[in-house]
Amino acid sequence: MDGHGAGVAAISQDFHTMATEDTLRTLCLAESFFCNLYKVGGNMATRKQGDTLCFYINGKKVTENHADPEMTLLPFLREKLRLTGTKYGCGGGGCGACTIMVSRYQPASKTIRHFSANACLLPLCQLHGAAVITVEGIGSTKTRIHPVQERIAKAHGSQCGFCTPGMVMSMYTLLRNRPQPTMEDITQALAGNLCRCTGYRPIIDGCRTFCQEANCCQINGVGECCLNGEKNISEPEQEKQQLFNKEDLLPLDPTQELIFPPELILMAETANPETLTFHGERMTWVLPTSLEELVHLKTSNPNAPLVMGNTNIGPDMKFKGVLHPLIISPTRVMELFEVTQTPQGVWFGAGWSLSEVQSLLEDLVPQFPATKTELFKALIQQLRNLASQQIRNVASLGGNIVSAYPNSDLNPILAAGNCKLSVFSSGGKREVALNQDFFVSLGKTVLKPEEIVVSVFIPFSRKGEFVRAFRQAPRKESAFATVTTGMRVLFSEGSRVVEDVSIYYGGMGPTTVCAAKTCLALIAKPWNDDTLSPVYDILLEELTLPPSAPGGKVEFRQSLTLSFLFKFYLEILQKLREMNVITDELLEKMPIQPLPREIQPGLHEFQNVSKDQSNQDPVGRPIMHRSAISQATGEAVYCDDIPRTEGELFLALVTSSRAHAKITGLDVSEALQVPGVVDVVTAGDIPGKKVRTLEGYDEELLAEKEVSCVGQMICAVLADTRAHAKRAAAAVKISYEDLPEPVFTIEEAVEKSSFFEPQRTIERGNVTEAFKSVDQTFEGEVRIGGQEHFYMETQSMLVVPVGEEAEFKAYVSSQWPTLTQLAIAETLGIPSNRVTCHVKRIGGGFGGKICKTAILASITSVAAWKTNRAVRCVLERGEDMLITGARHPVLGKYKVGFMNDGRIVAADLQYFTNAGNTVDESVSVVEKILFHVDNVYNIPNLRGRGAACRTNLPSNTAFRGFGVPQSAFVVENMINDVAMVLGRPADQIRETNMYKGLSLTHYKFEFSAENMLRCWEQCKAKSDYDARRRAIEQFNQQSRWKKRGMSIIPIKHGNAITERSSNQAGALVHIYQDGSVVVTHGGIEMGQGIHTKLQQVASRELHIPASKIHISETSTNTVPNSSASAASFTADSNGMAVKNACQTLYQRLVPIRENNPKGSWETWIKEAFSEKISLSATGFYGGPDIYMDWEKMEGRPHAYFVFAACCCEVELDCLTGDYTTVRTDIVVDVGRSLNPSVDIGQIEGAFMQGLGLYTMEELKFSPSGLLYTRGPSQYKIPAVCDLPLQFNIYLLPDSDNPHAIYSSKGIGEPVLFLGSSVFFAIKDAAAAARLQSGLVGPFSLDSPSTPERACLACASVFTQKIPVSKLNGTD
Ligand SMILES: Cc1cc2nc3c(=O)[nH]c(=O)nc-3n(C[C@H](O)[C@H](O)[C@H](O)COP(=O)(O)OP(=O)(O)OC[C@H]3O[C@@H](n4cnc5c(N)ncnc54)[C@H](O)[C@@H]3O)c2cc1C
Ligand code: FES
Ligand code: FES
Repeated sequence: MDGHGAGVAAISQDFHTMATEDTLRTLCLAESFFCNLYKVGGNMATRKQGDTLCFYINGKKVTENHADPEMTLLPFLREKLRLTGTKYGCGGGGCGACTIMVSRYQPASKTIRHFSANACLLPLCQLHGAAVITVEGIGSTKTRIHPVQERIAKAHGSQCGFCTPGMVMSMYTLLRNRPQPTMEDITQALAGNLCRCTGYRPIIDGCRTFCQEANCCQINGVGECCLNGEKNISEPEQEKQQLFNKEDLLPLDPTQELIFPPELILMAETANPETLTFHGERMTWVLPTSLEELVHLKTSNPNAPLVMGNTNIGPDMKFKGVLHPLIISPTRVMELFEVTQTPQGVWFGAGWSLSEVQSLLEDLVPQFPATKTELFKALIQQLRNLASQQIRNVASLGGNIVSAYPNSDLNPILAAGNCKLSVFSSGGKREVALNQDFFVSLGKTVLKPEEIVVSVFIPFSRKGEFVRAFRQAPRKESAFATVTTGMRVLFSEGSRVVEDVSIYYGGMGPTTVCAAKTCLALIAKPWNDDTLSPVYDILLEELTLPPSAPGGKVEFRQSLTLSFLFKFYLEILQKLREMNVITDELLEKMPIQPLPREIQPGLHEFQNVSKDQSNQDPVGRPIMHRSAISQATGEAVYCDDIPRTEGELFLALVTSSRAHAKITGLDVSEALQVPGVVDVVTAGDIPGKKVRTLEGYDEELLAEKEVSCVGQMICAVLADTRAHAKRAAAAVKISYEDLPEPVFTIEEAVEKSSFFEPQRTIERGNVTEAFKSVDQTFEGEVRIGGQEHFYMETQSMLVVPVGEEAEFKAYVSSQWPTLTQLAIAETLGIPSNRVTCHVKRIGGGFGGKICKTAILASITSVAAWKTNRAVRCVLERGEDMLITGARHPVLGKYKVGFMNDGRIVAADLQYFTNAGNTVDESVSVVEKILFHVDNVYNIPNLRGRGAACRTNLPSNTAFRGFGVPQSAFVVENMINDVAMVLGRPADQIRETNMYKGLSLTHYKFEFSAENMLRCWEQCKAKSDYDARRRAIEQFNQQSRWKKRGMSIIPIKHGNAITERSSNQAGALVHIYQDGSVVVTHGGIEMGQGIHTKLQQVASRELHIPASKIHISETSTNTVPNSSASAASFTADSNGMAVKNACQTLYQRLVPIRENNPKGSWETWIKEAFSEKISLSATGFYGGPDIYMDWEKMEGRPHAYFVFAACCCEVELDCLTGDYTTVRTDIVVDVGRSLNPSVDIGQIEGAFMQGLGLYTMEELKFSPSGLLYTRGPSQYKIPAVCDLPLQFNIYLLPDSDNPHAIYSSKGIGEPVLFLGSSVFFAIKDAAAAARLQSGLVGPFSLDSPSTPERACLACASVFTQKIPVSKLNGTD
């Protein structure tokens, strides 16, 4: 990276001793002048004239005379400049959707620094003198696309596309700094960019093409480079299958990039830069230019924060509503950016960003002997794992320290390392030690409000001194630590006797804490087992947490403190041994070889199309998602990208803060006073039906008299801007009278018989009788937590009144426009023919944009109807998570009867789901659960019972898999328990009990199990299961604290919606006179590539290239009465409808073609037009006859089954619960794939979503029913760091499916369950750890197997020291 990184070479003199006197003299002189200018008292209601903000965006100069200090760059780009390529995903720096590149000229080094940043946190006023590049600035389809955009698109790295511009910009910034990056650089650059669709592998593969390292094709097998030795000759010579062609990619040409604007260089070089001030409606922003000015400002306004990176202050203002009338931003104060070396260490300016501190340290380390840089290296390690690159690029060193987060990663290591601060105020300069006295309380330090940290001293380490940092977080990267620590020990020369030791922890209370007693117990003692053994107990006593400690995870956090100390002990012991200070035999404690961090290229096997297939026919080929390029350039239009219309209003919702209460008052008077507010909509305003009826229950659109969960919608505020609407919504006052005994958990609901009816039972054989004849029985239970959809595009809609005959146009991010249309019509009391619903594409849905979306659109339509103005509603991430519900958490109980040879003879499974406060689709979810209670097993006596519990939590809803992931998980857990009871490998019990040949399910649905067994066997073979199992056993024998585990898990998944009328589909195909074709159908493009697949279908049927076919949008006025895009059946049904329409048209052209057999498509169409042949046709597909008779317990509830198997291996750190997925192999029967790249993308994405469900995603509620986890900071979905190191996908060859188009199968949902194979591999590894402690047999591990649960399950000596109170339930 250029920029400040180079600055170390030019380290200045000791500024701390020289500058102080002069500085203070100037301060005093300047005092009276500044006093009047900046002292901002009280309310800044009226806007003053401020300075002009000047910066560049995409090479164009922006001058803003009224820069609003409350505005960040994101709304400025999207709303003011209409640069909508930069997306909103969370608003808090946690998702990377808003990533842009900032470049700044640095006069001191005369270099330009390019860095990625989150536009959602970048204050507009901070940008003076900066050049910003957004996704639109690097390439477009109108000019030239950038190689990054091209490669991510062509590698199939863009599905719904909502994350793509952010990914592109992170990668683009990396390339601006390093045109030939390493894989490590790439994974670091993308660590802060979340994608909910792709599973990251294709994005990584696209970016990998920029690396110089060999991109091995793995033709010699996994881990075997093709360049080593002979090519594997046992493989038949065949054309290598590739998902994309690397040969035809545009080269990266750095000379084509936008140059840094020379005007900004001149501005930066100005000798006397002027102080800048910007005034907004409520805030003033000042950019001082010197330390003296800064000190003065801070003295006059001690409560005004100093904003550097805005990564603490920004989220506080946004999410907690904190208002700072004045903000001082010292980014132009040079003294905060100095680096000064002394014989004892280095002073770093407090203004340096964390990335810059990291690169400064990295530059320094090689310049000194290793013994001097122990602290530097520990800091580098901690910095690499702290937040994301975008955050580290802006967050400042001083900001991190002064923010005094309880789990700051830097403070424990800085404190343990004896660092100190140089602090300035009008009273002068002082040095403050960073020790236990520095941290006073949550977010508070000993610094006085007016004090400014100018620099931070980081000392060199001494001979015999060792420093280490450890952290454990819910996710490896981009996550605040659960516990983090800094540890330093100094030994007497040449001995193992401790002379000095310092240990600090973060995450163990409201402040960074010092384990002083523990340290005392170590001083003057030899570094050995005898010393350490009693010290763990001292530490445990010293850092105890009450059971109700904020942040929860009490046992885990305590055990981590011990584990970290133990790790420190081991590492230092090893070090002493290497230095020949000791000669102890450490074999058992030797740290084992760490896993490689780099993601290997994966294998993808799919069937090539037959040689006879015409070159023009795209069916079966890996065609790129048809919008991938526009998604990568930011041109793709999502709902909130639609330009504002004249007079448009923004709608903000007001939701209940009580779980169960009567509404006793609603006061909107204050809200109506907020500038720009137009109206408030309540239930009383609804002209038509006030409820939506689902599964026989009514759900109120807006609560009128009573609320039944926190987050229930009560009213909506309408204002001219988002900011005004949000502010006014916060000002609405609602009074409540609590109703007794809200129900939150499944247990409470069961106790109170609080269910949505009907409850369901299904049974084959005679379970009760069969239990009498088995060798053994076992009873168990397991929980699986809920899962937030976390589609990257939040719920969004725009309702526009047409202005006559009560017509409305609704642009909605919905998976089911027909339902939205119907809901709006019913709500407004108008016929459906007055409402048209349009969906261009949606930024992910996963089942979460069906029912609640219709309700939200209905409320928005009432606002549009009432005001007769266009109304837009786009939920913020936190609101979306609060209001819209999630996947149903499930408690599964089972009793299983089996023979000693492993045959399961009887099983009785009971499922309770937490449905929340309304039924939504909960009964249907329970039904789907019961259809899959057999998974792939032929259990002759099988009973499944299911109930949807009614609770006072936000209503849960459909989510990819619709109950199957919960159902099959309980089944597989049961099989695992049987294996453990019998002491046999789980895969053998699975094989023994699988369906074989032509089979009947427990609801008498006939199917062939052949492909299921083929998937299983091929998965075992491809993964080299038996050999690796033996290798794992060997590894586990040698390794005490890291264990490996492996599992192979099968799935049989029923596709289609279990309702006869719900799988029908329609299409409308027009051919225009120039021969171009437009296809419309009822399916929604939500990233799953349906438009791409159906373009392929139309191309085959019309015998024309796909390039002549366009798919514009889905709308209710082109294709009416569509079904929901769900249940992995959308391409099947809509594909058939498109085929039907195209065949009709092609048939109509027969006479024309026969008349002119040599003619072209264009000439035939012209002739057809002259002959007055209709060139427009509808297509229809009725869908399979699906039914279920619950009385008889039989039916055909699905169209067909998809089969798959997945083998995963993990390595688990038993001391911390941290795990890595070493390898994943998945074999899937997708029939004859319509598009292997799209299908493989769906498989990888679903698997990663499943990995999230079963290992990391946790919804947490307060005791009063408030969802705590309302954003990516608290709720972790998988990121790049969670990708298996080796990820191989094989599509089962030679598979046919007579039940879907061209013998294909739908694949959106089935593979999600296979993420559980990571869970079971973790459980396997934990079993190995338990075995070492003498624990055998079944043990309980709930899903998700977070580091917390996995660590506690390992039952190490450390976790066993902690009195374990019952872990919280997951619902
Ligand atoms: C998504 C996200 C993830 C994060 N993950 C982590 C993580 O894993 N580990 C971790 O440790 N941190 C993490 N952070 C916190 C982040 O590191 C801090 O917010 C950041 O370092 C604060 O620096 P800033 O410059 O942005 O502070 P600002 O928000 O600009 O200011 C913060 C506070 O510091 C004060 N301040 C700033 N500079 C000075 C100074 N020189 N003298 C006196 N006071 C000063 C300000 O007055 C203000 O009160 C994360 C933050 C976000 C948003
Ligand atoms: S929107 Fe900025 S990081 Fe999520
Ligand atoms: S493609 Fe990444 S979120 Fe959809």
